[in-house]
Amino acid sequence: MLIVAPGARISPLADIEDSQRGTVIEIADGVSIDSFVKIKPAGGSGDLFIGENTTVNSGCVFYTGNGIRIGRGCAIAANCTFAPTNHEFSARDKTLAEQRFMPSRGGIVLEDDVWIGANVALLDGAVLRRGCVVGAGSVVRGELPAYSINVGSPTRVIGYRGQTGLSAAAGRSAKGGLQ
Ligand SMILES: CC(C)(COP(=O)(O)OP(=O)(O)OC[C@H]1O[C@@H](n2cnc3c(N)ncnc32)[C@H](O)[C@@H]1OP(=O)(O)O)[C@@H](O)C(=O)NCCC(=O)NCCS
Repeated sequence: MLIVAPGARISPLADIEDSQRGTVIEIADGVSIDSFVKIKPAGGSGDLFIGENTTVNSGCVFYTGNGIRIGRGCAIAANCTFAPTNHEFSARDKTLAEQRFMPSRGGIVLEDDVWIGANVALLDGAVLRRGCVVGAGSVVRGELPAYSINVGSPTRVIGYRGQTGLSAAAGRSAKGGLQ
């Protein structure tokens, strides 16, 4: 089921597939989804929810997998992949298709006011607490603390928003460059 609030702005060049299996994709008021964003119900029975005033830039891909829940006012830069699902691959005598998927690690959760830089991959079980920042090209697994600044593959914390001693970029509003 696809639920798009009347105040959401979705590019006609975005590609949002509706679920054939009854899972829910819900996009709230004020959400902006740019061209060449793909949302695909696949790899699990999770729902996708994108909260108010969140911005999703071009080239992002969302596999719904074990579920994705994105809070309010988040900024997601270009070419990020949300992959909250894993193929089961442990056996050699069965194909990947025969083995289906690994058990859920809880999907992906972004709390409010999170900024994801360009080309970030987010994996099943990622929990991004309120206000955190993820640097370009990172791979996110596990939990990132509130207001932390994270980079790398897998991510490591390099600081916290508002902390002195970091560059001006880290102390500014995390969404400034994307609006
Ligand atoms: C994460 C980010 C916000 C940090 O900015 P910053 O506070 O100015 O960080 P600095 O440039 O001072 O770097 C601090 C350290 O983190 C490392 N670092 C910064 N960004 C990194 C990244 N994306 N991946 C890996 N390491 C990174 C730097 O090499 C530096 O390491 P060092 O202390 O060992 O030398 C920024 O680097 C970034 O990745 N921004 C994303 C930009 C983007 O995708 N914009 C999309 C359109 S808005």
